[in-house]
Amino acid sequence: MIITKQAFAKINISLDIVSKMADGYHDLITVMQTVSLSDEITVECSPGDGIKINTGLPYLPVDERNIAVKACNVFFKHTGITGYRTEINIKKEIPVSAGLGGGSTDGACVLCTLDEMFDTGLGRSVLERLGCRIGSDVPFSVTGGTKLANGRGEILTDLPDIPHCHIVICKPRLSCSTPELFGLIKCEKIRARPDTDGLLKALGEGDLGGVARRMYNVFEDVLPRGKHDVEDIKNILLDCGALGAVMTGSGPSVFGIYDDLSYANNAYERLKAEYNECYLTEPVN
Ligand code: C5P
Repeated sequence: MIITKQAFAKINISLDIVSKMADGYHDLITVMQTVSLSDEITVECSPGDGIKINTGLPYLPVDERNIAVKACNVFFKHTGITGYRTEINIKKEIPVSAGLGGGSTDGACVLCTLDEMFDTGLGRSVLERLGCRIGSDVPFSVTGGTKLANGRGEILTDLPDIPHCHIVICKPRLSCSTPELFGLIKCEKIRARPDTDGLLKALGEGDLGGVARRMYNVFEDVLPRGKHDVEDIKNILLDCGALGAVMTGSGPSVFGIYDDLSYANNAYERLKAEYNECYLTEPVN
C-alpha cells in the first residue's frame, strides 16, 4: 500500500500569548492559515515491522525525534494495528525551524495518510487529539484552512476563508529555537497585543485590508536584538506594496500579504536576490 500527499505549510496571521500554564506550555490565541508551500510525503506500508524515514536532509533526525515517526507510533498504538513495516519519504520544500509548521504538517499528513490507508475512519476530532500528542501545531494541520487556535494550539475554531490574496514568505538566514523564544516571553510584560476580535471581524467581512492591518505577533518584541533580519525583510515587503507584513509563529520567517500579484512578484524577486528561502504562495482553504 502506497499513498503520496502534499503537506502544506502554515502562517500565523496573528499570535498572542495569554499566560504560562502549569505544564510549562503557553496559552495562545492565534489565527492560522494554510499556504500553498508544501512538502511531498509518500507513505508505504508492507508486511513486516519497523519505521524507515528518508528526508534527504542529513541534519534531520530519522529516529523517534522525527515527528513523522512519532505520528506512526501514535497511530499504530491507538489503532492496535501491528505487523506492518512503514517507509516514509519526505521531499522537503518547507524550510526547517522557520515558523512555518513544516514538521507539524508532515506529522499531521502521516497520521491522516495512515488513517486513509488502513480505512480506520478516525475522524477529525480523534485525529486532532492524536495530533496534539505529537506537537502543538499538529491538530491545526489535520484539516488546515483558516482557524483560530487557543490553548496549546489544540482548541480549534473554523473561521471564514481569508479573501484571495498573494503571500510572499521569506526566511532570514538564522533560525530561532521555539522553546528558547517561549522562554523569553514574560506574559505580564507584553506591551502590545494583536486585536484578535478586530481581526475575526475583518475575516467575517471578507476585508483583506482589515485583516492585513491587524497582523501582529508578540514574539517579534522578544527577538534577540541584531540577530535577525526580520525588520529588514518586513520593510522590503511593505516597500513593495504589502497590505501588512509580520513574522510567523516563533519565526524567523516573515510574510507579506498582497492583493496585487505584480506587487507580490516584485517583492519576491527583490528578496530572492538576497535570501535563499523565499516563496510566492497563496492561501489554501
Ligand atoms: O508542542 P511542540 O513540541 O511543538 O512545542 C515545542 C516547544 O514550544 C515546547 O517544548 C514549549 O517549550 C513551547 N510551546 C509552549 N506553548 C505552546 C506551544 C509550544 O510553550 N502553546
